[in-house]
This record gives sequence, C-alpha cells and structure tokens, in this order.
Amino acid sequence: MNCCQCQGIEMEFNRKVAADDLKRYRQKGPDRTTRMLIDALKAEGIQGMTLLDIGGGVGVIQHELLKAGVRSATGVDASTAYIEVAKEEAQRRGHADRINLHHGDFVALAPNIPAADIVTLDRVICCYHHMEGLLGRSSEKARKFYGVVYPRDTWWMKISLPIINFFYWLRRSPFRTFLHLSAAVDAVVRANGLKRRHYSQTIVWQVVVYGHSNLQESQTSLSAPIFRPDSA
Ligand SMILES: C[S@@+](CC[C@H](N)C(=O)[O-])C[C@H]1O[C@@H](n2cnc3c(N)ncnc32)[C@H](O)[C@@H]1O
Repeated sequence: MNCCQCQGIEMEFNRKVAADDLKRYRQKGPDRTTRMLIDALKAEGIQGMTLLDIGGGVGVIQHELLKAGVRSATGVDASTAYIEVAKEEAQRRGHADRINLHHGDFVALAPNIPAADIVTLDRVICCYHHMEGLLGRSSEKARKFYGVVYPRDTWWMKISLPIINFFYWLRRSPFRTFLHLSAAVDAVVRANGLKRRHYSQTIVWQVVVYGHSNLQESQTSLSAPIFRPDSA
C-alpha cells in the first residue's frame, strides 16, 4: 500500500491503538454507534447471511454478527495491526474458521473480494479521501444490506475536522480525516440500487442501513430519524 493516507492509517492504527480498542471492546462491548448499527442490522433478520466488513478494526461487527447468526464474514482493513488483532480475537472466540481477513486498501482489492449479503463500513468513510471509489465499490458488493456509520456534515463537524487534522499535521502524521457530504454519500449508494431503511444519529455520527429495493419493509424501518445523544 503506497498511498499517503494508507501510510497514515498504518501509523495511526498501530499495535497499541488496536490493543486498546480490543481491551475496551472486551470490557464494555461495542461502542455506542457500532451497537446502533448492529441492532439495526439484527432487526432486519440476518440469520445465515454472509458479511463483508470493510475497515472493521478489531472486528467488533464480525464477532457480534457471527454470534448473532451470520454464517461467515470477510474483513478487509488497511491497518496491519488491526488485522493481526482481529485474527487473534477470532481465534480466542473460536470462530476463526468462519472469518477471512485481508490486509489492504479495499478500493484496490475490490475486484478480488466476493460480494456478501451484508456490507458494513463503521467509521471508515471519514478515514478515506476517495469517497466515490470506496462507497461505489463497496455498495456494489452488497446483495441485501449496506450499513454505514460516518460523521454528520453539520457546522460543528465542519469546524472540528480541520482542527483534528491540524494536530495530525503538527505530529508530522500523513493521516487526515475527511468530512464527505451526506447527500453525495447517499447518491453514490443509491446509484447501486440501494434504498434507505434505517437512519439514526448522535451529535457526531449518523448510522444508516440501506437495503436493496426488492426487500420488504422491516418492522423497525424508520421514516423519521432517531436522535441519541453521544453520552446517552
Ligand atoms: C476509525 S477506524 C474504525 C475501526 C472500526 N470500524 C471501529 O469503528 O472501531 C477506521 C478503519 O478503517 C480502515 N480503512 C480506512 N480506509 C480503508 C480502505 N480504503 N480500505 C480498508 N480499510 C480502510 C482503517 O484501517 C481503520 O481500521
């Protein structure tokens, strides 16, 4: 991987960060918005389905959805440390034989990654510069559901992200965060035949589950957004 952002990802999502993430997950379970995405997907009915989790970190969505009845999972992550830790955790949980992990930039690897019933990107879109490539190539892999968690494009996020990036610059890190416009994200996903089925948000994040247009409405499908404060 030789793109500048990919080098930044290797620096920022290193072994220590991965170990800390795993410790937090073991102690407290999934983070709040990850839990919101998992619950929304479970409400759709995921028994026996396959999962493709892109930028899955220590593999929280993979571990939780396998426990909930998903048949097998594929994970793709640009961080070597996350892949190693996710693999170790899968072995510890006894489901390593049901997870296939690949290290690299999903946009480059996409032609060799199989489609899946469910595709997830949890807090990944904000770590990648080429939104159309990442969203376009990943949403075309989703046979049934496509779940994303990404920052809201509100005025406070428009102020916060450049400040966060300033600190990366000060530390001489090539890593940057990106605030992609929600309307642009939505348009790329819809272009691959997906419709919005669930929407909820916190002060910082939005959680969206799309489904293919031929799927029936689930009982939990929402026309109005749910708001949950980040601290709740
Ligand atoms: C902020 S972390 C989120 C990790 C995990 N999903 C979570 O929510 O805890 C962003 C992750 O996205 C991965 N990532 C970003 N762009 C990627 C790409 N193009 N291909 C594969 N992984 C990518 C990074 O390596 C990192 O693991």
